[in-house]
Amino acid sequence: MLITDLIRKSILELKPYSSARDEFKGEASVFLDANENSWGSPYPIAYNRYPDPLQKTIKNRLSALKNVRPEQIFLGNGSDEAIDILFRVFCEPGLDNVIILPPTYGMYAVQGNIHGTEIRRAPLNDHFQPDVPAILSLVDERTKLLFLCSPNNPTGNLISSDAVTELLEKFKGIVVVDEAYIDFANSVSWANKTDEYPNLVVLQTLSKAWGLAGLRVGMAMSNETIIGYFNKVKYPYNIGLATLAIVEQALQSEAQYRSFVEQLNADKSILKIELADLAFVEKIYPSDANFILVKVRDAQVVYDYLAQNGIIVRNRSKEVNCENCLRITIGTTAENEQLIALLKGMA
Ligand SMILES: Cc1ncc(COP(=O)(O)O)c(C=O)c1O
Repeated sequence: MLITDLIRKSILELKPYSSARDEFKGEASVFLDANENSWGSPYPIAYNRYPDPLQKTIKNRLSALKNVRPEQIFLGNGSDEAIDILFRVFCEPGLDNVIILPPTYGMYAVQGNIHGTEIRRAPLNDHFQPDVPAILSLVDERTKLLFLCSPNNPTGNLISSDAVTELLEKFKGIVVVDEAYIDFANSVSWANKTDEYPNLVVLQTLSKAWGLAGLRVGMAMSNETIIGYFNKVKYPYNIGLATLAIVEQALQSEAQYRSFVEQLNADKSILKIELADLAFVEKIYPSDANFILVKVRDAQVVYDYLAQNGIIVRNRSKEVNCENCLRITIGTTAENEQLIALLKGMA
């Protein structure tokens, strides 16, 4: 399979915007090439300069953390930007289609709609695992992307590695494995398989375990060819200097990240035990993420009661196979205790 056969013709032929910082490679002390304000900015930090378009410092650090080469990483405004770019690179509006496996993360379909791309749906089975024959039966020569979310949002489970492998081998388009919640799972990332499978794109984010949702930094990891096209299509300076500076600092504190993961996973176990004791809780689904999906007798009643008492969870009842299901994010220990105390009052 040739990846270039999957890429939109206009993108293959695209001559990307060449920024001043891309063009000048040498050493200089006076920068009169990018129409910046050379006097400075109204901050002690020099925000008057454009940032590195390819975010090399951060990618070097991520390369060590993720065990991939820096050139295999694309950084975006959250992994949501990577989802948008997947459509821009691969999907010809009005002609191509993609496959999603509901119930799953809502942005795949939203981006498909924005980009005029048909969305085909192969629902996950009763165990929230892919129905591989059903997926393959939806594929035609215009199917460009297949989105696998592992651990899946909103169900919380990992997608079986056998299913991912089979799909990587049999589907001749791009398999996107969205690992936004992988840090909480006791499982290896698919990012290390990108050399083996040329059609694999893995998404991860700093929004969850790293505690940086407000900064908006996510990534796509794939082979250099695909990431090269991502870089061609992205806005030239898509991550700002302030964000880069904070991320650089945050990525040094791996111990903090590990402690977040340990704490959230320990609190998740406690929350599951407490929830299981409540009479109106019918099922707690296994979770490899920082949230749990809980089936209750009447999700709207529980949702309204919690909301009236100042706690917001997500009612996922309208999703396929999620009738009466609430998705509950693991909070701080105190927040989880507050939630349980309230729910006990309801039982
Ligand atoms: C499965 C999944 N993918 C991607 C994202 C987007 O994350 P971000 O854009 O913050 O990196 C989310 C956010 O909730 C998510 O649940």
